[in-house]
Amino acid sequence: MLTSILSSPRIIDVADVFQRNLTLDTAKDCFLVYFFAVRALKLWRHVRARGLSRSIKDLYVFIAQRTLRLVIALPSMRKRIKTEMDAARVEIDQKLIPHGKDVVRHLELPKQGCTLEWILDAMEQMDREGPSHTITGKGNYPVHSSFTDGGDDMERVLVAAFQRYCVSNPLHPDAFPAVRKMEAEVVAMCLRMYNNPAGAGATTSGGTESILMSVKTHRDWARAVKGISEPEMVVPASAHAAFDKAAAYFNIKLHSIPVHPETRQVDLKRVRRAINSKTIMVVGSAINFPDGCQDDIVGLGKLAKRYNIGLHVDCCLGGFIMPFLERAGFSSEPFDFRVEGVTAISCDTHKYGFAPKGSSVIMYRSADLRQYQYYVNPEWAGGVYASPGLAGSRSGALIAGTWAAMHYMGEGGYISSCRDIVGAAKTIEELYILGKPQASVVAFGSRAPDLNILEVGDKMSKKGWHLNALQNPPGLHIACTRLTVSMVDNFVQDLKDAVWDAKGSPAGKGTMVSLYGLGNSSAIGPQMVGAIVSAFLDALYQA
Ligand SMILES: *Cc1c(COP(=O)(O)O)cnc(C)c1O
Ligand SMILES: *[C@@H]1O[C@H](CO)[C@@H](O)[C@H](O)[C@H]1NC(C)=O
Repeated sequence: MLTSILSSPRIIDVADVFQRNLTLDTAKDCFLVYFFAVRALKLWRHVRARGLSRSIKDLYVFIAQRTLRLVIALPSMRKRIKTEMDAARVEIDQKLIPHGKDVVRHLELPKQGCTLEWILDAMEQMDREGPSHTITGKGNYPVHSSFTDGGDDMERVLVAAFQRYCVSNPLHPDAFPAVRKMEAEVVAMCLRMYNNPAGAGATTSGGTESILMSVKTHRDWARAVKGISEPEMVVPASAHAAFDKAAAYFNIKLHSIPVHPETRQVDLKRVRRAINSKTIMVVGSAINFPDGCQDDIVGLGKLAKRYNIGLHVDCCLGGFIMPFLERAGFSSEPFDFRVEGVTAISCDTHKYGFAPKGSSVIMYRSADLRQYQYYVNPEWAGGVYASPGLAGSRSGALIAGTWAAMHYMGEGGYISSCRDIVGAAKTIEELYILGKPQASVVAFGSRAPDLNILEVGDKMSKKGWHLNALQNPPGLHIACTRLTVSMVDNFVQDLKDAVWDAKGSPAGKGTMVSLYGLGNSSAIGPQMVGAIVSAFLDALYQA
């Protein structure tokens, strides 16, 4: 029976076909089919995550950019662009770099060491020289310098902590046991603030490093536990640029999800559509940087739980405001580890925590997850090497400063600073406010067609208020600080004047109007802005 079946002409035919076709050609065909199937799957995931119209727009922008790049390569165009870029560069230099005959440049090591008096004199000279800028206490951009303004006493506390631990290095815990202990205690205090005393965390050099570490941790976790080799993450359009930076550094595909125009919260339906088998994590902010609004963390937590992926809640800005909102008498929505599905939270001690700059904390739900943050090299010629974060050697003085600031403020101090700062933010509700700001940051835009909000920003800048410009939609934001508290009435008055001025006499030449106008003027706009901003970064390193 069997033999008769096997020897039936049809079976023999099939076997023959197999035999003949198991050649290089079939292998090639198989490979091509596989290649296109993988491509098609990728395309499908992309379109599903971004929606059809957005994908078509993406494609249009891609083609337009390629075409424009070809056009720009033409010699005549190149010359024109070079002239424009040179002019922009000169302008940037003039704004940043002190010029003049009496500017002393310290370009070489001095032959002999200088004295303390000489050094302090030189610093005073540099503070004065400039270029045409005065140091104002009013601004809050770009340095958030006023975040650290915890008053003169706080400054004394920080300097004392720095002095005591100025040469310590936490990379060597055996040599500096007190620094190790303070670091562990800073993390423990934050974990308790966020209702996860059994969790784990680490200190970092700032919000950006906290976010980079969290993304790397989730990536490595997903690779080890779920076998994900081409990771993707889903991030609200209102989240901090540090997530894009993480995606660029760690080669992760990022889906940016629009926020609701009124509530400014990320669209949960679109988040769900963007989640697929490659997704390692989703992100929510409490509160976000652009407009101070908070995403629906409970909703995001449900999604994270359902798909067994990470949820990072970015509390960098809200770090020392959000946990104290209720006790300061304001309403608050759930955002911390009590929300199921939250796997990591970043919290900046160097913003409203008033710790010295260069200090932040990343927290995880469990020590198991934190494992994936560590880097260990057991075979290094220099000995077994292990470090928790990006840095190798770090400053123990920063940790001591952070520990000291947190102890100096205490719960009472943070609650009252929260009450003052959020109170001031609630007073600034003059223009059209974006969303429902939860805490200390308020963003406003313009609905009037004859009022360019960026023009208002440029006018405010002339008055000494360095507000932060926002895009899509255009707006301005103020991050209220302790300095704002006493000046909130001045601010509102200046803002009213600036709106009036901007309507009456738009110059259209200020930095904000020109930089952000460019970003939208053509498909190549973002690249031009990129080139100009690179020139700005170059200028920072010009001695
Ligand atoms: C400031 C900030 C960050 C990044 O922090 P850096 O300390 O500037 O690196 C991240 N997220 C939000 C919401 C922030 O406000
Ligand atoms: C840029 O264009 C988009 C739509 O194309 C618009 O929504 C946005 O408001 C514009 N931004 C600025 C700064 O003009």
